[in-house]
Amino acid sequence: MSHKITLIPGDGIGTEVTQAVVRILEATGLTFEWETVQAGAEAYEKYKEYIPKALTESIERTHVALKGPITTPVGGGFASINVQLRKQFDLYANFRPVRNLPHIPTRYPDIDLVIVRENTESLYSGLEHEVVPGVVESLKIITEKASTRIARFAFEYARKNKRKKVHSIHKANIMKLSDGLFLRCSRNIAKEYPEITYGEHIVDNTCMQLVMNPYQYDVMVMENLYGDIISDLCAGLVGGLGLVPSANLGEKYAIFEAVHGSAPDIAGKNLANPTALLRSSLLMLRHIGEPDAALKIRNALDTVYRDRDKLTKDVGGKAGTSEFADSIIAAIK
Ligand code: NAI
Repeated sequence: MSHKITLIPGDGIGTEVTQAVVRILEATGLTFEWETVQAGAEAYEKYKEYIPKALTESIERTHVALKGPITTPVGGGFASINVQLRKQFDLYANFRPVRNLPHIPTRYPDIDLVIVRENTESLYSGLEHEVVPGVVESLKIITEKASTRIARFAFEYARKNKRKKVHSIHKANIMKLSDGLFLRCSRNIAKEYPEITYGEHIVDNTCMQLVMNPYQYDVMVMENLYGDIISDLCAGLVGGLGLVPSANLGEKYAIFEAVHGSAPDIAGKNLANPTALLRSSLLMLRHIGEPDAALKIRNALDTVYRDRDKLTKDVGGKAGTSEFADSIIAAIK
């Protein structure tokens, strides 16, 4: 059986890491039919659209995409394509498991926590305007519907995976209405899951707690901006952005991508670590019903990380992106 998957190469290090991951996925013996369509500035050159119709149609057909990071201009230019895709396909849950890789030394071993980030609203609504010169208003949208849906996702995940705790992360002491609503929705859903311990932490304290004692957390649910920031903090706990995967999940569609961005500082130099996107592709393989292939790659990752001589620079090695991919492929076979 062949799996039809939309492939969005992205830009910056995107093309390098997607190429590496595609080669590794194909080495498992599975057959893929990749529908490759670009998005962002590169797509604009070809289609005069940042999210081309061809991409929308492809995802509507395949329901699953593997995506490289896409650059968003800072302080002007077009709106984030990443955020737009999540909204367009109602990928309301951004699922980000944070685990150590064996053999990567970090301050805390055996971290195993899950960030569930609401993916469609908060300050990422993109509703900003200049009220008068020198005064800008940026709207934070929090709805009962989206907050309830994301809380249910977190608790359902916890129940299905025998997780013990869910923390709702907020700033309801200051944003009493918006984060207050988010918290109320978490509390309501928590009542339906009495076997799971429910806790609440304010987001700034959460950052400190994560750095001091990450083991106190299990599943964490939060709105969009907090999820973005806390995910990068957690990536730092387990060895960096080159390692942490994510899945954007909705009722009908799913897009799998790394937590990191397009890393312009190392783009085009064969330096990028494809592990984060590779681990995202393992989530994708399980999603499409191929857990055995996912396990094969996971074992190969363990082997390559144990041997250490083919790791990329960000995790202390000397190998390039393609050489790392070659050694994963060799370990699969
Ligand atoms: P970034 O995640 O691209 O890079 C931050 C730091 O981590 C850099 O030093 C980079 O070299 C390093 N890094 C990231 N991924 C790595 C990898 N796979 N291997 C080795 N080192 C890696 O964040 P930054 O610089 O803030 O953003 C760059 C661009 O990416 C921006 O335009 C931003 O909007 C975009 N972005 C896109 C995302 C997406 O497509 N989902 C997510 C985050 C940012």
